[in-house]
Amino acid sequence: MHLIQLTTPSGDTEISVGELLSSGLHGLEPEPVLLVDEQVQSFYSELFSPFRCITIPSGEQHKTLQTVEGICRELVQMEVDRSSLLVGVGGGLATDIAGFVASTYLREVRFGFISSTLLGQVDASIGGKNGVNLDGYKNMIGTIRQPSFVWCDLSLLNTLPHKEYVAGIAEVIKYGVIRDRDFLHYLKDHMSALLTLDGDVLEKVVTTSVSVKVNIVQQDEKESDLRKLLNFGHTIGHAIERDKKVLHGEAVATGMVLAARLSNTLGLLSASGVEMIEELVGLAGLPVRMDMDPDVLYQNIRKDKKKSGDLVHFVLLEELGHAMIRPIPLTELNHMLHDLC
Ligand SMILES: NC(=O)c1ccc[n+]([C@@H]2O[C@H](COP(=O)([O-])OP(=O)(O)OC[C@H]3O[C@@H](n4cnc5c(N)ncnc54)[C@H](O)[C@@H]3O)[C@@H](O)[C@H]2O)c1
Repeated sequence: MHLIQLTTPSGDTEISVGELLSSGLHGLEPEPVLLVDEQVQSFYSELFSPFRCITIPSGEQHKTLQTVEGICRELVQMEVDRSSLLVGVGGGLATDIAGFVASTYLREVRFGFISSTLLGQVDASIGGKNGVNLDGYKNMIGTIRQPSFVWCDLSLLNTLPHKEYVAGIAEVIKYGVIRDRDFLHYLKDHMSALLTLDGDVLEKVVTTSVSVKVNIVQQDEKESDLRKLLNFGHTIGHAIERDKKVLHGEAVATGMVLAARLSNTLGLLSASGVEMIEELVGLAGLPVRMDMDPDVLYQNIRKDKKKSGDLVHFVLLEELGHAMIRPIPLTELNHMLHDLC
């Protein structure tokens, strides 16, 4: 098992990567109240049955204040008080909701996460962003508060639908692309083993990804500059997600390829760098390109909440392993998208 410590002004998290769930739950003090994703609950009901559990309905449409309210009512009925421990169990949906509940119920209750998707383990459970959507706008209401612990139990990934698992690999590739060139070569050599959930490869991949995110969050918890690099591929990815019914990781994969090509067009990343990203995305079975209307893409980017005035602060690559932020005027971006798509 690997332990990684996250230390921030708002709190510290001990992150464990390995197989921990079955023995670990009984060792928690005080006895936890579990907030569990519906699907995860159905797969692992025996493990959770000794504990008080509240079910979080699966599906992004349930990531709402209404769901939070329902959970809080159940907590009141259970007489959960400020000395309690709440543990969110599931993917990014469940941990975002559980973290928000724990940050607001009785003002603050101690909490931890057991992360059950690859995307959750390498991304959503790390860094303290909690929250829910509002009227279809993603993560509009939330807090930044760090969980006391995160368990990335790799054995849970065995029941995750393969498509969801592969979508998580997009974020894994992202960490190599923005911060760790050697990791990209490792991924290229071990992609087939990663796709079959080889234990050693998975442990190395999750540990390295978590370490990259921890390193960035420790330097910039509130996303004033460095943390923005984690949005590589996301500006275009979010624009694709608004238009197409694809998983977040699939949209981010294509978004990364387009952002890499854009970096090349602007004289930054080399052509071989672009090829490496395309190759990795393809090896993972993620979409290198999608049939996109550049005008629709442009209009969706204009709606991005991270746009400021007529500028989009785009995460680009100087070279593999080195990301940077450059403001691009919207009109210029419009022309470039027509050339790229
Ligand atoms: N807080 C952050 O920093 C952050 C970062 C990235 C994404 N997110 C959020 O994460 C959410 C997406 O997370 P996700 O991709 O993990 O999706 P998810 O939590 O919706 O899980 C995907 C699907 O897999 C099922 N599932 C989860 N674990 C399983 C398991 N072990 N076995 C079988 N089925 C399982 C779920 O029921 C769901 O149907 C979004 O709401 C996004 O906004 C948050």
